[in-house]
Amino acid sequence: MGTLNFEVLTLFPGILAGPLNESILKRGREKGLLFVRTWDIRDYTEDKHRKTDDSPYGGEAGMVLKPEPIFRAVDAVKAASPGDGFFTVLLSPQGTLFDQRYAERLSRERRRVILLCGHYEAIDERVKDALVDEEVSIGDYVLTGGELAALVVIDAAARLVPGVLGDEESAYRDSFGDGLLDHPHYTRPAAFQGMQVPEVLLSGNHDAIMKWRRRESLRATLLKRPDLLETADLSDEDRKVLQELKQDVKL
Ligand code: ADE
Repeated sequence: MGTLNFEVLTLFPGILAGPLNESILKRGREKGLLFVRTWDIRDYTEDKHRKTDDSPYGGEAGMVLKPEPIFRAVDAVKAASPGDGFFTVLLSPQGTLFDQRYAERLSRERRRVILLCGHYEAIDERVKDALVDEEVSIGDYVLTGGELAALVVIDAAARLVPGVLGDEESAYRDSFGDGLLDHPHYTRPAAFQGMQVPEVLLSGNHDAIMKWRRRESLRATLLKRPDLLETADLSDEDRKVLQELKQDVKL
C-alpha cells in the first residue's frame, strides 16, 4: 500500500492548511495514505527584504517571481528526501487541463509530487525550463494563485488512492469513473411533497435497477455533456440506449 506524497511550494501556506485538516483529506493523512507538506518559498530568499518577485525585463506591468528562491526551495525539498524520485508540476492557467484521467494517473504516482504555486504574478521562464515537468491548469479562468488549484489536484487524486474513501468502490461509481455523468440518487421517504421515487428503485429487481441507472447516466451525459460521449467507455447496449434516448429527445 503506497502513500501519495505532495510537496507544495507556495508563498501562502496558510491557504492550504484548512482544507488539508478537514474530512477525507485529514483522514487520508492520518491513515498514512496521503502525505502533504507545505514549503514557504519566502523562507528561501537570502536578502534582507525577503523579496520573491521583481519587475519584468523588457518593461511591462506586473511582477515576475524570481528564480533563485524557487530553485533553492526545490533543492531543499529534494534534500529532505534523498534517494526519492520527484515529479514537478507548475499550477498555471497556461497548463494542460486537469481532468479525471490526470487525477487517476497522479493517484498512482510513486514519486514525490512537487506542486509549485505562483501567486498574482508571472514566473521566471527558467523555472519552467529547468525544474518543471508538467504545467497544469484546473480550468479556463484565472485564479489569484496556484494554491486553490493545488488543493483541487490533491483532493481529486487523493480520493482515488485505495483506502482514502471508506468504500473503495465509491470513487469509481461517481461521475467520470467511466467517463459518464452520475445517475440520480434517492433516499427515504419514497414520497415527498408529492414527488415520488422512481418505482424501479423500490422494486428490489437488481438487474432492472442497474439498467435504469446506466440509462440515466447516459441520459444526463447526452443532455448536459455530450462531448464526454466521444471518449466514454461505451458497450453496444449503451449505444443502443443512446439511440433510443436521442429519439425521445426529438419527440
Ligand atoms: N493559477 C491561476 N489560475 C490557475 C488555473 N486556472 N489553474 C491552475 N493554476 C492557476
